[in-house]
Amino acid sequence: MDDTCATSAAGDVRLQQPAPADERIVVKSALATLGTPDYETRLDVLAPERRGERKVLMGDDPALPKMPAAPTLLDFYRLRFGPRHSNHMLQSASLALKAGVEEKGVLACLLHDIGLVGLVGTDHGYWGAQLIGPYVDEDVAFAVRYHQALRFVPDAQAGYDYPQSYIDIFGEDYVPEPYIRADYEFARSHKWYGMARMITVNDVYSFDPDAVVNLEDFTDIVGRHFRQPREGLGFDSSPVAHMWRTMIWPRNFL
Ligand SMILES: [Fe+2]
Ligand SMILES: [Fe+2]
Repeated sequence: MDDTCATSAAGDVRLQQPAPADERIVVKSALATLGTPDYETRLDVLAPERRGERKVLMGDDPALPKMPAAPTLLDFYRLRFGPRHSNHMLQSASLALKAGVEEKGVLACLLHDIGLVGLVGTDHGYWGAQLIGPYVDEDVAFAVRYHQALRFVPDAQAGYDYPQSYIDIFGEDYVPEPYIRADYEFARSHKWYGMARMITVNDVYSFDPDAVVNLEDFTDIVGRHFRQPREGLGFDSSPVAHMWRTMIWPRNFL
């Protein structure tokens, strides 16, 4: 079983033969392989007979654009998330802006799926809220955290129906885990419910791949409401700096 890949300037290359010594080995992450046969064998490549002269990737990944020394929030949208993933959040923020949502709410829409597009889908609202927590007002992080649970519960008054796309992809009979229901109940009676619900309202219709929204349109709102650390995201010694570094160097072995 092939449990490795190596990087090249052109991107990922599945290895059939031992690669040239200057190609770095990428060991698949535990998270990406748990529950698959690759999980047990992913470290086998480190054995000298498999590795040969090759080294394991640590540091800048040739398959990804280099990040600046002090990355800003928008650098992650440009250099890590790419146009398709960024576009979903940009469209959501754009809809909110057109609907007259205040600036912090627009920022919440711009950030709402950052956990999903940068780190991991599972519990992406919670991951996303943690990522942004030190840099935004508490209600923005709250809204990002709870939009995940609120997506599963309709709110006719707010104009939010249970998404047809969820029926299509999860099945008619899918029932969210009890913690989602409990977090929905908590958020429903919270003073910041409105912003979290607003994300879901602007999220539903944000999947048009042809609609282009410029990242630059949000520079001022980000500047006013996202407290960008001087050292750059990932290097400010905050409790979440490692999560930003993981997006800078996502395929480092350690
Ligand atoms: Fe989401
Ligand atoms: Fe979304």
